[in-house]
Amino acid sequence: SSLHSFLADLPKCEHHLHLEGCLSADLLFKLAAKNNIALPSPEENPAYASPTTLAKRYEHFDNLEDFLQCYYRAMRVLTNESDFEMLAWEYFTTAAADGVKHAEVFFDPQSHTDRGIGFEVVVRGFNAARERAEKELGITSCLIMCFLRHLPVSSAAGTMQTAVAGGYFDEKDGQQRAIAGLGLDSSEVGFRPELFEEMYREGEKRGLRRTAHGGEEGDPSYISGALDTLHVERIDHGIRLTEDADLLRRVVKEEILLTVCPLSNLCLQAVKEISQVPIRKFLDAGVKFSINSDDPAYFRGYILNNYCAVQEAFDLSMEEWRTIAENSIQGSWIGEERKFELR
Ligand code: ADE
Ligand code: ZN
Repeated sequence: SSLHSFLADLPKCEHHLHLEGCLSADLLFKLAAKNNIALPSPEENPAYASPTTLAKRYEHFDNLEDFLQCYYRAMRVLTNESDFEMLAWEYFTTAAADGVKHAEVFFDPQSHTDRGIGFEVVVRGFNAARERAEKELGITSCLIMCFLRHLPVSSAAGTMQTAVAGGYFDEKDGQQRAIAGLGLDSSEVGFRPELFEEMYREGEKRGLRRTAHGGEEGDPSYISGALDTLHVERIDHGIRLTEDADLLRRVVKEEILLTVCPLSNLCLQAVKEISQVPIRKFLDAGVKFSINSDDPAYFRGYILNNYCAVQEAFDLSMEEWRTIAENSIQGSWIGEERKFELR
């Protein structure tokens, strides 16, 4: 559409991006070969015959669970610090081309430490790419550590302890924390936010930023639970907020930012078409949101594709896009000086 170049040039902030969700079929095969990791045999899983068949497998997911199985299986090729760095670097270069200026990115430490990969290996690799992205691409960023809600709470508590003991949350002489915030992801329904209260309490005490996935597949009580118990400042997805008018008013009043991911919602069958993502409802009600890519290697596009899909479905005005851009800057976990630069 006519706004395409306007949208491409718009300075963007991304708030909902899983670094592990940037593992394309091509990179997976490349890392499997480099690290001598045997992929499933054709009998076990015919999708792993080639990068092409695997990419084809990613063209349809029944729901969140179906996707998550592919996502966790794929990660087994990530072994060395340089693998994590390469994965994150691929994200930052693609994001730069899409006009991303600031990115707050998720990672899932338990999905690696459970395979025997050191926590420090993962964080060092990701943070090496972040430093390079700031120097070479001008993209500022921060790292958000997510707890996997389908695993026992004791596993999340252990991950919190590892991060605390390793000093990853510490603010050293004006330098950025290695890990800036906490998130909560993976299977939502049946794994309530309240389970993770203790870790979030500890994070809040340490001055960490806080967000959680909620209202993606789960009902609005997963959103209110995260607000009440985890004291989150944002809700990731949050599209089912429309089902609770009182809660919606609260989200507006408290200026909670929703990190909406339209192509993800489409690919995971949360909506039948992009026009069912409640963009218009949120704009009209004054709900603040940003538009994000979630797991771009799996969901047919990075952030600009998400912006364009929204534009095609809703035909928003320049004014509305400026509001979305402003809210995504305002809702970023950065100082006023950087916010000013992004405007
Ligand atoms: N992990 C990666 N992507 C996710 C999503 N969209 N929802 C929950 N967990 C995830
Ligand atoms: Zn997500």
